[in-house]
Amino acid sequence: MFDVSEIDLQHQELVNMLNRLNDAVKNNESREDIYRIIDDVIAFTRLHFATEEQLMIQSGYPEIEWHKDKHKQLIQEALRLKGKLEYVGEQLFTEWFNHWPFANVLAHIQYADKQIEDHITQSGVKK
Ligand SMILES: [Fe+2]
Ligand SMILES: [Fe+2]
Repeated sequence: MFDVSEIDLQHQELVNMLNRLNDAVKNNESREDIYRIIDDVIAFTRLHFATEEQLMIQSGYPEIEWHKDKHKQLIQEALRLKGKLEYVGEQLFTEWFNHWPFANVLAHIQYADKQIEDHITQSGVKK
């Protein structure tokens, strides 16, 4: 019922997608391709957050509102940056891209998401 392994798999996929996005920018792939990857990343992230929020409800995780708020902030950051990227030239594009909140996403996985997994493990529910 509490499928933490699914969350782990989704985290792995998310990290892979972010690396792919990073590479696409580094290799100067077309903007069209880069936007498509960005859209994919955002769509997958939404799906992942929904999965995680469902798991928090099912397991009675106490900090759910705080955690949902963090998810909302991460999506907003991504959308805001995507909006900015559409209006800048090539040089600024790379510069702005470096502001992509990769670090925030990774930190979220390592700290905030880890707490959900700890909660589930500690409450004695089998993975
Ligand atoms: Fe997560
Ligand atoms: Fe999360």
